[in-house]
Amino acid sequence: MMNKSEIERIKQLRDELHTHNYNYYVLNNPVIGDIEFDRLMKELQDLEARHPEVYDETSPTMRVGSDINKDFVQVEHKYPMLSLGNTYSEEEVTDFYDRVKKLLNEDFEICCEMKFDGTSISLTYENGKLIKAVTRGDGVKGDDVTDNVKTIRTIPLVLKGDNYPKTFEIRGEILMPWEVFEQLNKERESREESLFANPRNAASGTLKLQNSSVVSSRKLDAYLYYMLGENLPYDGHYENLQEARKWGFKISEITKKVKTLQDIFDFINYWDVERKNLPVATDGIVLKVNSIRQQKNLGYTAKSPRWAIAYKFQAEKALTKLLKVTYQVGRTGAVTPVANLEPVQLSGTVVKRASLHNADVIAGLDLHEGDMVYVEKGGEIIPKITEVDIDSRIQDSVPIEFITTCPECGNPLTRFDDEAAHYCTNEDSCPPQIKGKIEHFISRKAMNIEGLGPETVDQFFQEGMIANAADLYTLKETDIARLERLGEKSAQNIIKGLEASKSVTFERVLFALGIRFVGETVAKKLAKSVKDIDTLMNASKEELVAIDEIGDKIAESIIHFFGSEKNRKLVERLREYGVKMKIDTESISATSDILKGKSIVISGVFTHHSRDEYKDMIERHGGKNVGSISKKTSFILAGENMGPSKIVKAQNLNIEIINEDKFLAMIDSSSDMGNIKEEHENNSIKPTENNAEKKRNIVSGKGNEMIKSGGESDKTNDKNIQLKLF
Ligand code: IVH
Repeated sequence: MMNKSEIERIKQLRDELHTHNYNYYVLNNPVIGDIEFDRLMKELQDLEARHPEVYDETSPTMRVGSDINKDFVQVEHKYPMLSLGNTYSEEEVTDFYDRVKKLLNEDFEICCEMKFDGTSISLTYENGKLIKAVTRGDGVKGDDVTDNVKTIRTIPLVLKGDNYPKTFEIRGEILMPWEVFEQLNKERESREESLFANPRNAASGTLKLQNSSVVSSRKLDAYLYYMLGENLPYDGHYENLQEARKWGFKISEITKKVKTLQDIFDFINYWDVERKNLPVATDGIVLKVNSIRQQKNLGYTAKSPRWAIAYKFQAEKALTKLLKVTYQVGRTGAVTPVANLEPVQLSGTVVKRASLHNADVIAGLDLHEGDMVYVEKGGEIIPKITEVDIDSRIQDSVPIEFITTCPECGNPLTRFDDEAAHYCTNEDSCPPQIKGKIEHFISRKAMNIEGLGPETVDQFFQEGMIANAADLYTLKETDIARLERLGEKSAQNIIKGLEASKSVTFERVLFALGIRFVGETVAKKLAKSVKDIDTLMNASKEELVAIDEIGDKIAESIIHFFGSEKNRKLVERLREYGVKMKIDTESISATSDILKGKSIVISGVFTHHSRDEYKDMIERHGGKNVGSISKKTSFILAGENMGPSKIVKAQNLNIEIINEDKFLAMIDSSSDMGNIKEEHENNSIKPTENNAEKKRNIVSGKGNEMIKSGGESDKTNDKNIQLKLF
């Protein structure tokens, strides 16, 4: 009897959660709060675990992915996945239109759509359930990436309504929204991993990851734009897509049925400008004859349909002069060549510099001093040199030779096997490496020292006040206050920030040390396993690789780091100054009434503790965790990626948003908590630091160079470079 009702409940929860998913991700209109959603999901997970007999591969629980690795199976497409002919001018669009007109010799409509710049996917549905998701592959065969695709919340696992064909295929584009892409690269940067050059590479790389739970965390999106099958509801492509929207698919609103060439040009011209405001990357417009009957009449060439074409937006390009090549040294010692250019206007900004990535790129371009070069915005973010105008080359000009010694400290450069970058190995006294390490130490995800930024670190360094991270804790308020640009107030803030950093958790301290390949996630794993720095410092390679997810590369790097007397001393000094060198279990289990009477909303993704742990902490400190924001909410405990609608609501109701560090500090200092608002007025989330100051590793090139077939390389790729964003 019990079983029967549990099984009923499973069914009910599956239906409810599918609807909530759709409301949240497709309609952008959630009707329940995150906490309630998580609670229902947890309930379903528990029930499903108890009832494997009702396993359903389209259950909403499939969205969270699994960490089981499996190779992708190649599947043949039922209908080949063709590509579109590309056009670049009004003339070519006119030719297409005239050709269609002549061949059809009857009235026709053209459906104008955005050309999404992601990675294409073909989804097969049977009886309203997603049964297969296959990549384009070579057009004939692709990879079965069903498990990964199931984690994409905008792709329905089960369709709504009942008028969908029994079997059909729907194709579309998997995309990584700009915002997610930026965030992912930020995280990769902090882990010293190579960055994705554009959202397209990031989307296709993510889709090919072996671990679907990582795919799930990457927040991919999908627009569907092409339906295939025997019994589609209408003859019109546009009409079918509108119907598909009702079944739960995400169909772009930017779709217009038109009749005349002028209508087509109006659409192109409008969206060529407006696309810059879209949340996802687009690279053109697709024009499709709307009637499927007419599409069949027009047919196909060997490679593409005669009934559709793509109009590609102009890649914005400018010709300018190479003034000189300079070199930047990053915190890891990687040396990046930078082309200094005669300033030129490109996509609304003035470009003065472009990355040259590494020595191979310079050689590949055959770059000479004083060359006239074409610059483009690669992936629309970072300018790059795509070509040299050989015709205008000055006679006898000298080829650019990559430097052999560090421009900052004179140390000879080294090139490691399998790496394209040149490195300065003088870790101990090369100024940008020292400064870079301190900048990393103070950064938001590391020690998060408020009041301190790269410029101030530079100033302290120039003044001889600091030579490593531990020196920061010896700074005196009076010494800081006398410096140019800083005053008493800044000095006080810096000292306060340094003091507060002493309550930063051990896992973050470990990340802050800047050990190569020890990013945030690895630091967390290590901290959990070793519990204190001494165990880590004294661990052998065997002991390290025995820790979950620690491989040879990371283990060797840790041993190398602590093999240096200087680094051991740094750790000792930090410990002496009060920086945490062991995990801290108290904050999780402590109790107080510091949050008495407070209603607290939890939102977003957290780094230090799980949502449930925070919920628990709130309760143990006398507070109440509530699901949705209202006038009565005392404050919001926010992690990363709090939804924009929540931020707006919080702002409208004047409710404070507190990040997890501040929350932890708040419950840590359980005394003196009369007025949270006052005490924590500096704790609200602030815009992140100056982007222009950020260093990046960029995966160069047009394709998916960093993606190994069937997976994402975690190795430093030979196309990796470091550069500053301009
Ligand atoms: S229709 C037979 N519509 O562009 C044509 N494709 O080379 C089926 N794409 O591989 C494609 N946005 O990945 C179509 N609105 C759109 C599209 C679109 C992007 C991609 C797709 C395809 C490539 C064409």
